[in-house]
Amino acid sequence: MSSGPRNWWRNAVIYQVYPRSFADANGDGTGDLAGVRSRLPYLARLGVDALWFTPWYRSPQNDGGYDVADYRDIDPVLGTVEDAEALIAEALEMGIRTIVDIVPNHVSSEHEWFAEALAAAPGDPARDRFWFRDGRGESGELPPTEWTSSFSGPAWSRLDDGQWYLHLFAPEQPDLNWSHPDVVAEHEAVLRFWYDRGVAGVRIDSASMLVKDPDLPEVGDHEPGGHPHNDRDGVHDIYRRWRKIADSYAQPRVLVGEVWLPEADRFARYLRDDEMHMAFNFDFMTRGWDAETLRESIETTLATHRDVGAPPTWVLSNHDITRPVTRYGRRDSSFSFETKRFGTPTDLERGARRARAAALLTAALPGVLYVYQGDELGLPEVEDLPAEVREDPMHHRSGGVDPGRDGCRVPLPWTSGGKAFGFGGPPWLPQPADWGRYAVESQLADPDSTLSLYRRVIGLRRELRDADFAWIPTDPQVLAFRRGEDLTCVVNFGDAPAALPDHAEALIASARLEDGRLPGDAAVWLRTRPSHQ
Ligand code: GLC
Repeated sequence: MSSGPRNWWRNAVIYQVYPRSFADANGDGTGDLAGVRSRLPYLARLGVDALWFTPWYRSPQNDGGYDVADYRDIDPVLGTVEDAEALIAEALEMGIRTIVDIVPNHVSSEHEWFAEALAAAPGDPARDRFWFRDGRGESGELPPTEWTSSFSGPAWSRLDDGQWYLHLFAPEQPDLNWSHPDVVAEHEAVLRFWYDRGVAGVRIDSASMLVKDPDLPEVGDHEPGGHPHNDRDGVHDIYRRWRKIADSYAQPRVLVGEVWLPEADRFARYLRDDEMHMAFNFDFMTRGWDAETLRESIETTLATHRDVGAPPTWVLSNHDITRPVTRYGRRDSSFSFETKRFGTPTDLERGARRARAAALLTAALPGVLYVYQGDELGLPEVEDLPAEVREDPMHHRSGGVDPGRDGCRVPLPWTSGGKAFGFGGPPWLPQPADWGRYAVESQLADPDSTLSLYRRVIGLRRELRDADFAWIPTDPQVLAFRRGEDLTCVVNFGDAPAALPDHAEALIASARLEDGRLPGDAAVWLRTRPSHQ
């Protein structure tokens, strides 16, 4: 085990691997763990501290692995438990820790518990690990509540025996009943299973949704903490227990929450010092490219986290979100699942400039930086995937109205030409014909590429550690702040070039300076005083 400092995570750069789309070693068209192992030198050279793997467990893949059939096994398409152990160990030898995804709100309908529940009669205790209920209406033909699934449509499905079961996501993802002792015990055992194999932490999926009101009221108006199936106060007991398990290891393990909550104070409750270590900052991620709105988000984020003593996180995207190059190329560049539609006009060149500037901005902020695979290559969203290759239930269950999330999951290009641009076999989602221009190989050779920018900024960022943060007054189209005594980050959201504060040296810029001024949609890191070394 690494004997690294206990607080390694507080300033870490954490790289998200979507294993099906990273690198395919056996040539079957789906990425695998052997593929990741073969590319560890790439990740080490990028300078990341940890890898977060989206679920790699055995799964029928009805929701890209977020439908787990067996937590103690790796999906055969990806490899074996031995491959995972070897990957964890090899990465650690290169100084890279591993974070795995835990999906506690639901399991796959192919999980043995659900199979048992289906085989049992209504009322049998085997059904108590889930939410089975009789329906409403004369013959139970109406679902128990009007709750809707996050993937469109009702959150209940009916069985032939007349009972309904709850699924806040797809029908293949039945929700677990967290007041059942088996559910509690099994998850704690699963955490230990992976901690004992050397993983440094877990990312907790849909973390605020686990506890439900057993009376099953409709959503309606409610007090904070009184929503029938989200952010109920009881959920915190679960994470307090998980924190104790994490802390029982000589090298304490880390809990990272996927917590989507609009209220900063409710969000911060998950970060109290006996709960999670950090949670994804979706507030920042979903805001558009605009100085004022991002300044406000940064201020709220810093204040909220200061109060609870947790590091802020900076996330530009993940496997659920439209890629930043595409998002920032739109007139309304904010993100919401509700407004995602096909055919939004996009200026990709502008989006690419802004995404590079956003990389410099987020890397300069205090706390933890998350990088989703492919963002370091400046990949755009692949928007024109044919309907028949799309897999995402978010797309299918919306009747094809929502593009879904496949467009940010297209396999990575490694080489500028050749089969599948060096990914492996014919990719499970087709890569666009011009994908070679984004390939790792092409970008390594180009000092101005987005990959080169990421490599340099991740390296420079190490100097910042816990350095203080202070805004520098500027005109409204510009954000500028200092980190510590001698580093200043300036971001220009306007169209006209902006004057820079006095500085000794421009360390890194997302676009070429114009007569010493910062062009629009660009960012720069300045050394404001000569360094004393
Ligand atoms: C999270 C995951 C997403 C998944 C959902 C259901 O939001 O990030 O990919 O579909 O949970 O598990």
